Amino acid sequence: MPLTFPDPFVWGAATAAHQIEGNNVNSDWWAREVTPDSTLAEPSGDAADSYHRYAEDIRLLAESGLTSYRFSIEWARIEPAEGMFSRAELDHYRRVVQCCLDHGVTPLITLHHFTSPRWFAEDGGWTDPRSVERFARYVERVLPLLDAASHVFTINEPNILAMMITAAKGEEQLQAGTMHAPDPVATQHLVAAHRRAVELVRTVGVPVGWPVAPQQFFADPGAEEVLREYAYPRETVFLEAARGDDFVGVQAYTRTRITLDGPLPAPEDSEKTLTGWEYYPAAIAEAARLGHEITGLPVLVSENGIATADDARRIDYTRDALRALRAEVEAGLPLIGYLHWSLLDNYEWGSFAPTFGLVAWDPETFERTPKPSLGWLGSVARGEISLDD
Ligand code: NOJ
Repeated sequence: MPLTFPDPFVWGAATAAHQIEGNNVNSDWWAREVTPDSTLAEPSGDAADSYHRYAEDIRLLAESGLTSYRFSIEWARIEPAEGMFSRAELDHYRRVVQCCLDHGVTPLITLHHFTSPRWFAEDGGWTDPRSVERFARYVERVLPLLDAASHVFTINEPNILAMMITAAKGEEQLQAGTMHAPDPVATQHLVAAHRRAVELVRTVGVPVGWPVAPQQFFADPGAEEVLREYAYPRETVFLEAARGDDFVGVQAYTRTRITLDGPLPAPEDSEKTLTGWEYYPAAIAEAARLGHEITGLPVLVSENGIATADDARRIDYTRDALRALRAEVEAGLPLIGYLHWSLLDNYEWGSFAPTFGLVAWDPETFERTPKPSLGWLGSVARGEISLDD
């Protein structure tokens, strides 16, 4: 009997507002990008102009055979000044949800994907205890948008966000392979904000969880203790905080070797992707297993993909990632679905150069061009292509 994924299964692709919409001018990231002494390679600018072109993006996803779209709604647009909520922006996201439904696509909604309103960041951000109630107030306002979603994600990759907060304090850019200590105060507030958001989202009856990024730490013999010390604040604490949710999201791309001296960058002789990460498609299956072991919850792969200019390599990577996940399912992993990162080439937090998309776009005209990987993944979702072909 051929090995298969559970039925039903969430098959889709993911994006995040700041990375595709363009002109997210009231956000903390925008402020960081346009400051004259910015350390980022380039600003997000118009990005993929998906704020205006979302209908085309959703149509391309639907035509491929994928049936779910994970996107984020932008707090900085919805609450551009403290306590001032924009009805027009709430309407905008209502139209995005409706557009999904019109195309037979199920929306999955992320409430916070790395960016915050500028006022929030400038008035303490996640290290301020008021962050928990501030986030809850925003979540309450967006509840009416959520009831058509199949799943809601509260805060994307809280473990990476807590590391970014540490990195931003030192004005450093978070680099692949560098392992900043997550800010411990922000960690507490993120966990508390998540728990409040879970309670609120439950009032609309939609399954809710958060996407954690286990980093597939593996240790040299003798370095197991170092590994545990690394992993606990950088991911385990966030997975433990998911206990009691409806599911856990996991996202993984590569692995990180831990030696007695700490983490090492990808080995010289390994194949590296455009983010400089080791090409390691099994990462997501290992992350999914870990996520389930720690939480006991069903697992939704909320991101997985590869930054590459070689789309054939994207297909290889994704096929191997899906095969490894399938083996976990065969071994009993309760897997809900797979969302590829990303539907579109996008702003990779400082640069457009690492292209993760199933769809490319022209920087002058924004004209979309689906890559072969989009059709390939859609055909896998439709059961027209086997992973063993
Ligand atoms: C994780 C993040 O959620 C997303 O914003 C980012 O672009 C991808 N991984 C790739 O680094």
